[in-house]
Amino acid sequence: MSVSPDRHPQVPAAESSSAKLPRHVAFIMDGNGRWATARGLPRTEGHRQGLEALRRTIRHAGKIGIEVITIYSFSSENWSRPETEVSFLMGLLRRFVQRDLSELHEANTRIRIIGSRSDLEPGIASLLQEAEDLTRNNTGLNLVVAFNYGARAEILRATRALAQKVLSGDLKPDDITEADISEALDTGGLPDPDLIIRTSGEMRLSNFLLWQAAYSEFYFCEQHWPDFDEAAFEKALNNFCSRERRYGGLDAKAL
Ligand code: IPE
Ligand code: IPE
Ligand code: MG
Repeated sequence: MSVSPDRHPQVPAAESSSAKLPRHVAFIMDGNGRWATARGLPRTEGHRQGLEALRRTIRHAGKIGIEVITIYSFSSENWSRPETEVSFLMGLLRRFVQRDLSELHEANTRIRIIGSRSDLEPGIASLLQEAEDLTRNNTGLNLVVAFNYGARAEILRATRALAQKVLSGDLKPDDITEADISEALDTGGLPDPDLIIRTSGEMRLSNFLLWQAAYSEFYFCEQHWPDFDEAAFEKALNNFCSRERRYGGLDAKAL
């Protein structure tokens, strides 16, 4: 996918001939709590403002023609936070789906949820299902919501599913391929993330997309997630466009 000037006008012309827009950008939306604390506000206010940043990000991704964005909205480890914060985050997700679903559907966005559904409140699980079902045939931006998501748990679920196939005689252990594993993950059928953006200065994956990130480019910025805006997104994309992805091979210029 070449970046043409009208497709992505912010990329300087000199870079655009070799630059490629990422097909899939994944976001570790971090720093809501610190954003709020720095302003003397409760952490929950940071999460509320974080939702606004998410809405901006979705709109911008759709506008510039990114194919897939994945957002890390609640990790399987986030259950260890105080109960009041956890229930606020659950309520925020519920409100997000209830208020934004029709608009996302009208914008032709396809929603997909990754993560475990097993320990979710039935009300939330059915809302997530409704969002997926309603938007299943949409052909615009793919919005992948990582909710109650942990990559190790995802790999474990995939391993169990493959083991079941072996047990039932549908698959031989020696025939298992990397593609089979990719397909058995919650992200089966999606391209791997080209770019993973984490806000708020932490440089770790925090159990996000461990298998899928094998050849992702990483971009870390100091801004807290509620401050992430179109300009910050463009800066990350421009940085991505300037990188040479070698996949273990050699720089094109060295050949
Ligand atoms: C990210 O912000 C949102 C979630 C993890 C749900 P944090 O809540 O982690 O904010 P910090 O990292 O404590 O500032
Ligand atoms: C990662 O952020 C999870 C989400 C953004 C949803 P955390 O704030 O939970 O990660 P750690 O605890 O700093 O590793
Ligand atoms: Mg955090």
